[in-house]
Amino acid sequence: MSGIITPMSSQPKVLITQDEIKKAVARLAAEIRRDYQGKEPLLIGILKGSFVFMADLVRELELPVEVDFVKLSSYGAGTETSGKIKMVQCLETRIKGRDILVVEDIVDTGLTVSFLLNYLKRKKPASLKLCALTDKPSRHKVPISIDYLGCTVPNKFIVGYGIDWNEKFRHLRDICCID
Ligand code: IMP
Ligand code: MG
Repeated sequence: MSGIITPMSSQPKVLITQDEIKKAVARLAAEIRRDYQGKEPLLIGILKGSFVFMADLVRELELPVEVDFVKLSSYGAGTETSGKIKMVQCLETRIKGRDILVVEDIVDTGLTVSFLLNYLKRKKPASLKLCALTDKPSRHKVPISIDYLGCTVPNKFIVGYGIDWNEKFRHLRDICCID
């Protein structure tokens, strides 16, 4: 979590419907399937936000994949990600020589994903790519190249489809924004 403080005065407003999410996941799965033919990639989800996306993505893929999860947290107080990331739950799978695809719910400043990609690169994978369901390009603080992107979102706080505000709203089927 980035620790962004958001008032919860209003009801979530639908930004991306469950139907649009389904289509985006199917498109991403088709792109990934095409690029990983004959391979058995290791998908690494960033907890907790990616758990719903990961569950749908692996079932659309129709590829033999392995799945692992990592939990990262940005430490330090403040209204925004501090940029100092630590790994609070490690991977169980060996990375060396594997085709790695990082699966993230949302790229905001990009600091979390950038930290993980640098960490994984040091473990000498055969290949390393990034799949993100959503991206807020206007918020990036570091250059991030997203190999497989679902949708870009405006600079608003989003929830639903696994993504939370203060552990709430993960169960929503649509991706919504709260003001
Ligand atoms: P980043 O390091 O700034 O890219 O932020 C990454 C993490 O912050 C995401 O994986 C989310 O957990 C969280 N985050 C960023 N923006 C939002 C948002 O709009 N809603 C909910 N969580 C968010
Ligand atoms: Mg996340």
